[in-house]
Amino acid sequence: MRVLIVGSGGREHAIAWKIAQSPKVDKIYCAPGNAGIEEYAECVPIDAMEFEKLAEFAMENSIALTVVGMDDPLVGGIVDVFEREGLRIFGPQRNAAILEGSKTFAKDLMKKYGIPTAAYENFDDPKEALAYLETAHFPIVLKADGLALGKGVLICNTLEEAKEGVKTIMVDKQFGSSGNHMVIEEFMTGREVSVLSFVDGKTIRCMTSAQDHKRALDGDEGLNTGGMGTFSPSPFYTPEVDEFCKKYIYQATVDAMAKEGREFKGVIFFGLMLTEQGPRVLEYNARFGDPEAQVVLPRMKNDIVDVFEACIDGTLDQIDLEFEDNAAVCVVLASGGYPVSYGKGYSIHGLENFKGKEGCYVFHAGTKRTEDGIVTNGGRVLGVTATGKDLKAARANAYEAVKLVDFEKAYCRSDIGKAIDEA
Ligand code: AMP
Ligand code: GLY
Repeated sequence: MRVLIVGSGGREHAIAWKIAQSPKVDKIYCAPGNAGIEEYAECVPIDAMEFEKLAEFAMENSIALTVVGMDDPLVGGIVDVFEREGLRIFGPQRNAAILEGSKTFAKDLMKKYGIPTAAYENFDDPKEALAYLETAHFPIVLKADGLALGKGVLICNTLEEAKEGVKTIMVDKQFGSSGNHMVIEEFMTGREVSVLSFVDGKTIRCMTSAQDHKRALDGDEGLNTGGMGTFSPSPFYTPEVDEFCKKYIYQATVDAMAKEGREFKGVIFFGLMLTEQGPRVLEYNARFGDPEAQVVLPRMKNDIVDVFEACIDGTLDQIDLEFEDNAAVCVVLASGGYPVSYGKGYSIHGLENFKGKEGCYVFHAGTKRTEDGIVTNGGRVLGVTATGKDLKAARANAYEAVKLVDFEKAYCRSDIGKAIDEA
């Protein structure tokens, strides 16, 4: 069969790598893809938001399955366009992708169905938000309602900072129309865990846990980014935590969406905070995490195409997910200046060192092929992933592997996975 992947990041590279292992697949395309994805897929220059063109491409090229990695096209309704044309596509329809597309929707859903999350209020008028803040406890969290490249969350320590935050989100509209509505939410403390799951509308199957490192610099300093590195599994995701989440969060979310007439098919990514009072949902995403996918998929034993098809067909109850009994660590190599401003077009050296290296992967995020070889083309450039028998071994392997590649102004955090020492 022929498969089309929509997206161009490290997550899509990991998805392409995993799909390429399926004996059912003879050809993979990726739109628009990147220089690393080219190893497994023919990259086609169609933007991820050009739904009609993508559907036309899928029909002309007899694509049997399309897999969407990115949030924007899902929230924008790519699945609805494909399904209207009778095409098979893995991902939630627009009315279900709202679980990620609107934080006010997600919070109201959790409240209505008793799913544990931080206390909150929704606002669509900055004056009301400011009045509310006068009597609030600090720190407090402000969240722009819509998609904001992972940057629409502001943690405010004082009333002054929060007032400034309301201005940034709702008045200056720094995140565009995503700031038309805003959530103000209780600040929680604890460890964060990402749990990705497959959902077929009724049944949910969770993948192994992972932990992201959102801040740009060591020690969780600096600005929030899309994610600077991950490890899997999380030693803090204990059987007790799993039991709690199974009882109160995972199936409850799937059932709530179905009850609302928004049957969810695809990946639900649960961003969890393990608070002293128990696990709480920080956020939902309607897709694989990036770079969570880069540590979870290398540990997955199943043929992922079977799982995608079961989600589409509503037969996920017949599938058991299996993961290797090992660990994986992904260290993101970013371009100096990311996440604010950074150069592009720097030559990347050493990629060939990964050829044939067992348990070592270099997933491309922002890269491009030119006449002079592969160059940087984004803020997050590469995700260097290694597996190992346990987290310590995987971390050591990943940092060894990072030394194999280089480009001008490359930087990475040196403490990805350091938290495991406290487990
Ligand atoms: P989100 O995009 O909702 O995952 O938020 C980005 C990051 O902000 C999360 O990964 C957390 O580190 C932090 N965050 C979000 N909501 C809260 C909260 N209620 N309390 C504390 N930290 C939060
Ligand atoms: N790594 C977090 C995300 O994909 O949103």
